[in-house]
Amino acid sequence: MNTTKEFDTVLKETRLFKPLPEFSKNAHISSLKDYERIYKESIEHNESFWGNVAEELHWFKKWKNVLNTKEAPFYKWFEGGKTNIAYNALDRHLTTARKNKIALLWEGEPGDKKSFSYWQLTQEVKKCAHVLKYLGIQKGDRVIIYLPMIPELAICVLACARIGAVHSVIFAGFAADAIKDRIDDCKAKLVITADGGYRRGKVLPLKSTVDEAIKDSATIENVLVIKRKEDAVFPCTLQKNRDHWYHELYHKVSSEHEAEVMDSEDMLFLLYTSGTTGKPKGIMHTTGGYMTYAYLTSKYVFDLHDTDVFWCTADIGWVTGHSYLVYGPLLNGATVLMYEGTPQFPDEGRFWKLIEDYGVTIFYTAPTAIRTFMKWGDEWPKKYNLSSLRLLGTVGEPINPEAWMWYHRIIGNEKCPIVDTWWQTETGGIMLTPLPGAISTKPGSATLPFFGIEPAIYTNDGKETDAGYLVIKNPWPGMLRGIYGDPDRYIKTYWSKWNGIYFPGDGARKDTDGYYWILGRVDDVVNVSGHRIGTSELESIFIEHPAVAESAVIGAHHEVKGQSLIAFVSLRSGQQSTPKLEKELMNLIETKIGKFACPERIIFSADVPKTRSGKIMRRLLRDIAEGRALGNVTTLADPAVIETLKTQYNEE
Ligand code: PRX
Repeated sequence: MNTTKEFDTVLKETRLFKPLPEFSKNAHISSLKDYERIYKESIEHNESFWGNVAEELHWFKKWKNVLNTKEAPFYKWFEGGKTNIAYNALDRHLTTARKNKIALLWEGEPGDKKSFSYWQLTQEVKKCAHVLKYLGIQKGDRVIIYLPMIPELAICVLACARIGAVHSVIFAGFAADAIKDRIDDCKAKLVITADGGYRRGKVLPLKSTVDEAIKDSATIENVLVIKRKEDAVFPCTLQKNRDHWYHELYHKVSSEHEAEVMDSEDMLFLLYTSGTTGKPKGIMHTTGGYMTYAYLTSKYVFDLHDTDVFWCTADIGWVTGHSYLVYGPLLNGATVLMYEGTPQFPDEGRFWKLIEDYGVTIFYTAPTAIRTFMKWGDEWPKKYNLSSLRLLGTVGEPINPEAWMWYHRIIGNEKCPIVDTWWQTETGGIMLTPLPGAISTKPGSATLPFFGIEPAIYTNDGKETDAGYLVIKNPWPGMLRGIYGDPDRYIKTYWSKWNGIYFPGDGARKDTDGYYWILGRVDDVVNVSGHRIGTSELESIFIEHPAVAESAVIGAHHEVKGQSLIAFVSLRSGQQSTPKLEKELMNLIETKIGKFACPERIIFSADVPKTRSGKIMRRLLRDIAEGRALGNVTTLADPAVIETLKTQYNEE
């Protein structure tokens, strides 16, 4: 759990920002009283609450039961109901005034632009659905999507959902080995990629990474390639009978397509996330419950109205992009903005220019991005007209009050509520959050539970307390349905610390107003710039190097990234720590996971601190890295190790 000075400050935070009357006037939930009334109703009559929400969406056939708890924690939502989430996100709007409304605004990093009305996006998705069918994809097949942030990424996701194929999007920063592991785990038949993608002025060679990843694949039958770059940048070779240009198939298929009728509990997507073992987990989400939850959280947390332009800066490779760039806003008939590149291209004003150019009204980003913007200086946002903004959001990691205040003053001009939203890949949607027209905010707090969610804070032995482990006491429609191929791990990871209680892996505190303050992970997962990285994943990679005897990776406080990874590596006898070896180890992480998972520092040490039974004492390594007085050292097998490490850490 994070115990840095910064969080000591968080705990003393007393500033309170009341909802702005101007905002509340038109908000869906416009007073604390309304929030409390609906919240009470959603807990006391949980099933009828969710049943009524689901009625707002289209079902080909109505469900028999809202919730089936018989095989808990394998809960079933809207059992017997038949629907299709892509139909709900697109076709459902075509008989309304939204038919010609802009669904998707897109800008590429080089500045190229596209936009799609609901009608046009539906046509694109229908054509893509036919292309997938042409390549032999059937309902239930797994499709890997490894694309840059181009419109086709959203289109392919929606097309998979339309035909009932399970999409598994892999963030384009992952390396070939990580793609291979995911393909093998879910036995995917198809990979969708692009010849390149623009990032920080460069073009990423995505197709060749895919070629490397699938060279020995037993399951991949076809690769669908979207053309994004100019041919002259670098060549992209297609393998005969396996690889296909999307644009060539696109021109051959019809734009008439009926959405597949899906069972509410049919799998919608798999998203891999790091855990506490070396193997990433395939988090499973299904159709009806996820749809209902993404729909309602988007509507109320972002207070979506037809005049909004909603920009969620997350990549669709992460869950935030799934729920709040694609599904949630489109289910609400909103206009979303999608941007391909980085915030510093061609200069540090790019995000603010996008807000000005598109009249963005709702901006949702990560604390690490906010801290980066602060570092770049106020002059960048001040060059642009940000007056279109009416609501700001953050997600992915705890936000320090200083960054919250900067966001409030410099980006929001003190006129925009901030929603600090706590949730996870596993929860499918937002769980703790202010509702902007109803709930007062405190810088650094995710405030109160969303409708239908019953959180609590537990002690180790399962008693309610006000500082300890965050838990969720009841099931909710957006919840994960399991870990792909590993039901035991699902139960063990999430439901067995306290029988039947969901344990997300975070520590939290509750204040006297009942507000939640997330303190960070309590397991061996590190949150670097809002990305979850399991330390054991890195450790098992280091150990593959012949020079390495042992390693311990920890997360330490970082000014901008929130946390950074520090690796302590001890070498086999006779091995020397050299800059060349350090580079080799960094390269290993880069090629096995991706650059974003490279540690900030590698400290070579003769030994790592261990208990007498041989368990690595990471707590002490964290104390060293964060410059704290060392905690209890009496259980150390060799107390001298820690002093040597401390000197070494501070010298390097
Ligand atoms: O530790 C919490 C942190 O991010 C974790 C979930 O990571 P992931 O599944 O990658 O999803 C990120 C986007 C939903 C959580 O266990 N986290 C997420 N949001 C917040 C947060 N920590 C504090 N405050 C938040 N608002």
